[in-house]
Amino acid sequence: MIKKIGVLTSGGDSPGMNACIRAVVRTALYHNIEVIGFLRGYEGLIDNTYLELKPESVSGIIHKGGTILKTARSERFRTDNGIEQAAKTITKNNLNGLVVIGGDGSFKGASVLSKHVGLPIIGCAGTIDNDLVGTDFTIGYDTAINTVIEALDKIRDTAESHDRIFVVEVMGRDAGLIALRSAIASGAEALLVPELRHDMENLVSKIKNWRSTKSSKIIVVAEGDQSGGAFKVAEIIKKQCPEFDLRVSVLGHIQRGGNPTCMERVNASIVGFNAVKAIMVGRKNEMVGIIDKKVHFTSFEKAIKHHKKLNPDFEEIIEILSS
Ligand code: F6P
Repeated sequence: MIKKIGVLTSGGDSPGMNACIRAVVRTALYHNIEVIGFLRGYEGLIDNTYLELKPESVSGIIHKGGTILKTARSERFRTDNGIEQAAKTITKNNLNGLVVIGGDGSFKGASVLSKHVGLPIIGCAGTIDNDLVGTDFTIGYDTAINTVIEALDKIRDTAESHDRIFVVEVMGRDAGLIALRSAIASGAEALLVPELRHDMENLVSKIKNWRSTKSSKIIVVAEGDQSGGAFKVAEIIKKQCPEFDLRVSVLGHIQRGGNPTCMERVNASIVGFNAVKAIMVGRKNEMVGIIDKKVHFTSFEKAIKHHKKLNPDFEEIIEILSS
């Protein structure tokens, strides 16, 4: 019998986390399950700092970026002592389940904790990077790519006006999925991502051959790309093609903020709702995702270990469509 659960957001925040919290809280309360929300992710679980969540606690948050529960990358939770403290909090509060909204680092922690306390934990994939298998879109990814294309469209305006090349760096940690989609959607001329091999010589010769009637050129670089980031790429191009007027733009943390898109809110609501349902039917140590519009469960182990594969055809699409 599930009487009380906890919920927390952990790792980098992402738009849609609030919609997910709201879904968890409202679904649990509907089924007469009490909910407490730990503050600052696993830090709150270690320190036993939480909010009692009522229906009104999650009013007016579905459209807001960030997370009302706050988040952290907890170093203490990586230690045995941290795990022990968290386990004590779980016992003290008589929790029958925990919902963790976060990325792969958060699920690694959840996996260790659940082995320690035998508590059913369900994960909701929340990260702008979209780097987990078991779901087509993680919570935050759709909003982030929309933020990126808005920025790229603006960069295109100034690039056009000055006949410039722009090297734009986007987030994604060691995954290139933000770069990939936003490059296609913004009509970028080139893409550098860690999943696809490329050499700088090739890029430079491509730049030299770009048709002269095309006044602006945008190269999207994923922050985890082996080239070393946008400044490094710009330096190499500048050295070999000094005739080009070139600028760098690193988009940074604007990619993590903003109101979640419609798709984000819907997905986050579906995932949060199903996380509570999963705990109620006895599922544990799994991540809820959506694949081909259907709810899908993946073990933490699998979700953590495997990164999404990137479709290599996309590179060709970018090249041909921007020619
Ligand atoms: O995982 C989300 C993310 O935004 C990555 O894309 C980025 O590498 C990282 O977090 C930055 O983390 P922080 O904001 O904690 O420095």
